[in-house]
Amino acid sequence: MAYYYKSVKKLSLQEEINHNQHLKEIEQKHHLKLVHAMLDAEERERQRIGRDLHDGLGGMLAGIKMNLSQQSKTDNRNLDTVINRLDESVKELRHIARNMMPESLLKIGLEDALHDLCELLQIEDTRIEFQPINIDKNLPLAMQMHIYRIVQELLNNAIRHAKPSNIILQCSQHQNIVHITVEDDGCGFDQELIREKPGIGFSNIKNRVEYLKGNIDIESAKNEGTSINIEINADAGSDRSGEG
Ligand SMILES: Nc1ncnc2c1ncn2[C@@H]1O[C@H](COP(=O)(O)OP(=O)(O)OP(=O)(O)O)[C@@H](O)[C@H]1O
Ligand SMILES: [Mg+2]
Repeated sequence: MAYYYKSVKKLSLQEEINHNQHLKEIEQKHHLKLVHAMLDAEERERQRIGRDLHDGLGGMLAGIKMNLSQQSKTDNRNLDTVINRLDESVKELRHIARNMMPESLLKIGLEDALHDLCELLQIEDTRIEFQPINIDKNLPLAMQMHIYRIVQELLNNAIRHAKPSNIILQCSQHQNIVHITVEDDGCGFDQELIREKPGIGFSNIKNRVEYLKGNIDIESAKNEGTSINIEINADAGSDRSGEG
């Protein structure tokens, strides 16, 4: 009899563990679904803003410029300054739009799009070297987008915060693991800062990496620059949308 009760007790304990495990799994799935929905919404919002800026405002400004150019030919020479300023505005706006909506990804694929991004972001004082290794051209588009966004934020951070002379971006793939490394020789920073009070940029990277079942490693020292290594699983993000 005692043995019977013991085994029943054991069984119910096991059931409870199973039940808790099950609850945990449901919770994890729910969390991943939320992260996915958030990233997806953010991406669509960026693309919409990018398109609006490029086609809407960009088109309008270009129209005004043409109109003014026409007028300046006939009478007012002063209009030339206004036209030049307008020209600069159109350039700046195209730059923002391209940042928002990487059309290049669809047209030319991840590797070339990253080349373009490095060229676009390179400034006089900062050289960006890109080393692609073995990136699969057939990576799912959603995965290419995640990688592109992560790199974009890392490069922007390095340029904005570190003021480096050199940045090296390495993106390599070995089987289904993709490695992203961004190294700069800038001012470095205290990592506690990111842990305690991450900005939107780094929070987004963390969300993406968590969603892609990857990990982040940061090495940074004051005045010695920063090296950020990210490893993600290329299969992780595929077709989560259909997940029950
Ligand atoms: N490569 C880097 N070199 C030096 N400091 C850095 C570097 N990358 C990040 N940081 C520091 O980490 C902080 C957090 O970065 P994060 O991208 O989250 O926010 P942010 O760039 O300030 O704002 P945003 O939300 O626009 O991205 C930065 O403000 C900066 O102080
Ligand atoms: Mg940032």
